Amino acid sequence: MKRARVLPYLAVSRKRRIAVIPGDGIGREVIPQAVGVIEATGAPLELTHFGWGAEQYLKDGTTVPEDGFAMLGRDFDAILVGAFGDPRVPSNIHAKQILLGMRFKMDLYANVRPVRLLDSSLCPLKAMQPGDIDFVVIRENTEGVYGDLGGVFKQGTPDEVAIQEDINTRTGVERVIRYAFEYAKNNKKQDGKPRKRVLMCDKSNAMTHAGGLWQRVFKAVSREYPEIETSHMYVDALCVQMVRDPLDFDVIVTNNMFGDIITDLAAGLEGGLGMAASGNIHPGKTSMFEPVHGSAPTMAGKNLANPIGAILTSALMLTHLGLAAEAEKIENAVLKAVHQKKITPDVGGNLGTNECGEWIAKTVGH
Ligand code: NAD
Ligand code: IPM
Ligand code: MN
Repeated sequence: MKRARVLPYLAVSRKRRIAVIPGDGIGREVIPQAVGVIEATGAPLELTHFGWGAEQYLKDGTTVPEDGFAMLGRDFDAILVGAFGDPRVPSNIHAKQILLGMRFKMDLYANVRPVRLLDSSLCPLKAMQPGDIDFVVIRENTEGVYGDLGGVFKQGTPDEVAIQEDINTRTGVERVIRYAFEYAKNNKKQDGKPRKRVLMCDKSNAMTHAGGLWQRVFKAVSREYPEIETSHMYVDALCVQMVRDPLDFDVIVTNNMFGDIITDLAAGLEGGLGMAASGNIHPGKTSMFEPVHGSAPTMAGKNLANPIGAILTSALMLTHLGLAAEAEKIENAVLKAVHQKKITPDVGGNLGTNECGEWIAKTVGH
């Protein structure tokens, strides 16, 4: 009898090869804690650390080695990243090359940013219960204004002109919208209920060319998913609804720039940037996982940063790698930490980064 072919990454004992890139600032504090937590799950992992970031750039002028992105795609199953950004590199050129380099050159087109309230004490809105806020933003991650196409004309003169192009391709828009529908079809809410709604967010009343394409593609793709409800909001209206009544959001799909902005706003609902997790995904390819926050240079080196965003990010990564049981252990331990206030000051606790991370790792290990 012919044996069923098992995808190599699904083989239970096969070690998942993870590239770990802490980066700069608080990235170098929260990622070691996330690593401690994933190791405590006992998941079959093989971790390789890379020192890419500002320190290395300032030392020798390098950001990503010659075949760096090809190497990541070839030799690793996933990448765990901290954050990039350092005031000593005023242009933050290294961040652009490393972070946006990974997203663009590895074609990680879906930036998946779940937004979940774990405890009512974390939410600045009145009377919100866990479960009330449980949605996900699927952010286009490889085009839009982030392509940085454009230029400056007559620089330094009163006639100076700056042009920043917004790239929206049919292929790019269609694949991320389809990803959002597939996400709605294949993922449940935290309470076990099915996801069943996709909302497309744009600014098609002002940006008619790009918005028109998003509108047409959204309509066309939605016909393939009659079981999924669809709706649309302009990004400005969506922002006000997010702070007044976020209960109805389920799956939101939007472009690169709006996705960046609304996910910081959304992070505010779940306790702030220190709580927010994300994955940069291309199904079937090596994907990259990073907390939503940046390097927070003024907070760095003080053992103050909240490691939970990075820890929940590592849980997203394990789920992506077929290690859902280990990911669930992490999520349960984080929930306990929140309930028992074993958390950092930004979310109302009094533990340091290390103590919070170590408490969660110990709880996972029990
Ligand atoms: P930031 O996310 O680094 O920090 C903004 C503020 O949010 C901080 O001052 C702090 O009050 C709070 N915060 C963020 N993370 C926190 C955590 N883990 N725990 C507790 N509080 C936290 O954003 P910024 O100040 O705009 O950017 C700083 C640098 O980081 C810039 O160079 C920026 O370009 C870069 N950045 C990088 C990434 C990334 O690599 N993915 C993301 C965002 C910003
Ligand atoms: C994020 C960050 C990045 C972005 C920056 C650092 C370029 O804000 O990951 O949200 O805008 O995508
Ligand atoms: Mn951002």
